[in-house]
Amino acid sequence: MAKRAKRKTSSSSSSPHSSSKIPKLETPQNQQEEVKEEEPVVAADLVTEEAVPEEVAVPEEVVPEEVVVPKEEAKDEMVEDSVFVEESLVSDDEARRNWPYRYLPRTKKLGDARHYETFNGVEYMQAKKHYTQALVDGRVHFKLGDDGYVQASENEDSYICRVIEMFEGVDDILYFRAQWFYRAKDTIIEACSNLIDNKRIFLSEVKDDNQLDCLIQKLKIVRVPLNAEVADKREKLGAGDYYYDMNYLVPYSTYQSLPPDNEGDALESDSTISSECAGNEASPDSKKSELRMLDLYSGCGAMSTGLCLGANMADVNLVTRWAVDLSQYACASLKLNHPETEVRNESAEDFLSLLKEWAVLCQTFNVVGGGDFQENQDAEYVEEDDEADDGAAPDDEEIFEVEKIIGICYGDPKKINKRVLYLKVQWKGYGPEEDTWEPMDTLDGCKLKIKEFVVNGYKSKLLPLPGDCDVICGGPPCQGISGFNRFRNKENPLKDEKNKQLVVYMDIVEYLKPRFCIMENVVDIVKFAKGYLGRYALGRLVANNYQARVGLMVAGSYGLPQFRMRMFMWGAAPSEKLPQYPLPTHKVVNRGVSPLEFESNAVVHDEGSKVVLERELYLEDAISDLPSVKNDEARDEMPYGGMPQTEFQKFIRLKKNEMPGCLALGQKSLSHSLYDHRPLKLNEDDYHRVCQIPKKKGANFRDLKGVKVNAKNRVEWDINVDRETLPSGKPLVPDYAMSFVDGRSLKPFGRLWWDETVPTVVTRAEPHNQAILHPTQDRVLTIRENARLQGFPDFYKLLGPIKERYIQVGNAVAVPVARALGYSLAMSCKGIADAVQPTFILPRNFPSMQPSAASPSADQASPSAHQESQ
Ligand SMILES: C[S@@+](CC[C@H](N)C(=O)[O-])C[C@H]1O[C@@H](n2cnc3c(N)ncnc32)[C@H](O)[C@@H]1O
Repeated sequence: MAKRAKRKTSSSSSSPHSSSKIPKLETPQNQQEEVKEEEPVVAADLVTEEAVPEEVAVPEEVVPEEVVVPKEEAKDEMVEDSVFVEESLVSDDEARRNWPYRYLPRTKKLGDARHYETFNGVEYMQAKKHYTQALVDGRVHFKLGDDGYVQASENEDSYICRVIEMFEGVDDILYFRAQWFYRAKDTIIEACSNLIDNKRIFLSEVKDDNQLDCLIQKLKIVRVPLNAEVADKREKLGAGDYYYDMNYLVPYSTYQSLPPDNEGDALESDSTISSECAGNEASPDSKKSELRMLDLYSGCGAMSTGLCLGANMADVNLVTRWAVDLSQYACASLKLNHPETEVRNESAEDFLSLLKEWAVLCQTFNVVGGGDFQENQDAEYVEEDDEADDGAAPDDEEIFEVEKIIGICYGDPKKINKRVLYLKVQWKGYGPEEDTWEPMDTLDGCKLKIKEFVVNGYKSKLLPLPGDCDVICGGPPCQGISGFNRFRNKENPLKDEKNKQLVVYMDIVEYLKPRFCIMENVVDIVKFAKGYLGRYALGRLVANNYQARVGLMVAGSYGLPQFRMRMFMWGAAPSEKLPQYPLPTHKVVNRGVSPLEFESNAVVHDEGSKVVLERELYLEDAISDLPSVKNDEARDEMPYGGMPQTEFQKFIRLKKNEMPGCLALGQKSLSHSLYDHRPLKLNEDDYHRVCQIPKKKGANFRDLKGVKVNAKNRVEWDINVDRETLPSGKPLVPDYAMSFVDGRSLKPFGRLWWDETVPTVVTRAEPHNQAILHPTQDRVLTIRENARLQGFPDFYKLLGPIKERYIQVGNAVAVPVARALGYSLAMSCKGIADAVQPTFILPRNFPSMQPSAASPSADQASPSAHQESQ
């Protein structure tokens, strides 16, 4: 990638932005190469190094204030030379102090024809001398720290930079060092930059040397607080050209609050990101107080369960207070495992409407701000109530009296085509089976009852109001990007109703304004339609002043025999520390690659890192202790019938009160039996087929009678063998298996083997096009076996029909990944997350924290090895 802008008269100019929409950090190599290919520019009034006096005072103002050149005219006017202002020469001592990487010690001489020297692993053009001011085109006065436009290619917007150094190179060329700003369209937000105010730009860490005459126009760029509305930011900008309020860093596509005193740093050192950001420093007490989380699209709650476990392991009391999901079975499972959670079985869009209605109700009844209720209002409602009681009803109409309001929702629970706010009514003299949902506007006569409900609901935080929610987590389904969907809208994925939930998720974040949010999704969200939806999600967060970053994490890297790569997007309010990504703890059998444009988002250790990872896990590690069950196993609970055989099994079997980070930790023994260890019952035909698949590694439908594999590794019928049929008369080898992936697939009726990992646990349990048969039993993996591959603790029991339980498990965020992310979240909540590094290393033996006997590699990992990669 070209690193240097060229003179404005050139039509082939380039800059850090030009060769790729996603700018990469500079490397010494490209810096060097690019400078070499440039024609030298002869600078006026050059002073040789020997001629520089030891101490040269740098005058504050040596030329009159800038001659203002109208912007449009600037490009067309005659080009004059750009020169440094001689009076602004920096003394040699001071220059060496400020920019040591530009000068060899006086005792050393630069080799013949050498222009570069390495400093801290980076090659720098060596300088003869430094200046603090320049006259660009002989008339525009630039000072160190000024911002300006830099010439770009024709038809491209000029680049925007801050001048952080001015020097004459040992090659006699005049240079400035640019620190680049990015417009939103030059960051990963790209196609969704319309979400961002066009006066807003982002300060990058990308810096490089450019010839002085690439500068074409001075700009006024104003730093504004991140935590302000666009209108306020624009007001602060005044007559300036752009404002900035965030850093943009390429690794993990990070948008981050600016460090304090950033401007000073920019001038004085080569790193503008200080280790202290305007982070939220937690008081010692905040450790104990509860942090409330909303789990959107919660499924059975794996993601929030993991996040809470991880956060609590780091002493942050994170609790899932609210969860929302459309599936009644997923909601039932979540409630069973988390009695502390208000579980709402409704759509997220209805939930958002409800939140807004709830805020109005809380205001109406004056409960916000400490529940200070006005007597006169009460009186008014009493009167209304009395009126209602006394109101004459027609003789033949039975009068029902409201006993209590017991629920609230938005939508159409009575299926009467009326989408409004409903209240659930318990009727006087009737039992719970007679409770009904009534539109709120039909309950005018019982305002006191409504008020009682709102007051109690406000006190118990039945629903969150803006600011109530510390964390929002969730994985909005985006079925519009699924490869199974033939009608995907590539042109405008957001127009596809199936992707609407992404918008709803962001609307809820925007409305509730949590301190932190984390969104999970399939990797396709950053692949499909050039990653449009991923860019949109980031754009929404940034537009709402959230710091944000994106990481692609592999579940297996956190101790599972499953690959499963997923996208996790962090958001953090302006004053918070943006959470980091926990680096892998385990090796993993690689089953996929990161999408090209998001390569710098894969959460992996740096190349060359000396950290010692635990060995990869295999199917045997996860399930070898489970009792044998048959295809028609009907029990939802059974005894284990044996001891755990591996470290994984010991950990996953822990009782709820023994599990690190569990709310019940330390409480009385909460033992459990083996739940959900039953498979999807195969039909007779499939069962017969499965019984004929040999119990050996790699076995699948290709091992059935009548199937041959040709030289191109494709299946074909063996013409020497009659096609065998099943007792039902159906063929032993179904046509769909032969034609699947043009006969090249090994998956139909595939058996897993003990020493294997699975690519991804999915929601379906039919063996027709996936390898999910137990190694030695004639059945598919059970719900529990799948749950183990997803890292669910064994005490987590699921509810619903068998297929629904498989769906809950297949949909889940792998618990160990969520747990590791929860630990990271806790570091941010406590204000101790590192503001510089986007990743961090989890504590040794996380999450068991016990020295692990079965993982000798962990014991080989010396603490210093961990240090080394930090
Ligand atoms: C990928 S799953 C989430 C899994 C969950 N994060 C976990 O870790 O267990 C997506 C969930 O979204 C739910 N869902 C789909 N459309 C919804 C909607 N409009 N509103 C609320 N939930 C919805 C589905 O029922 C499903 O449980």
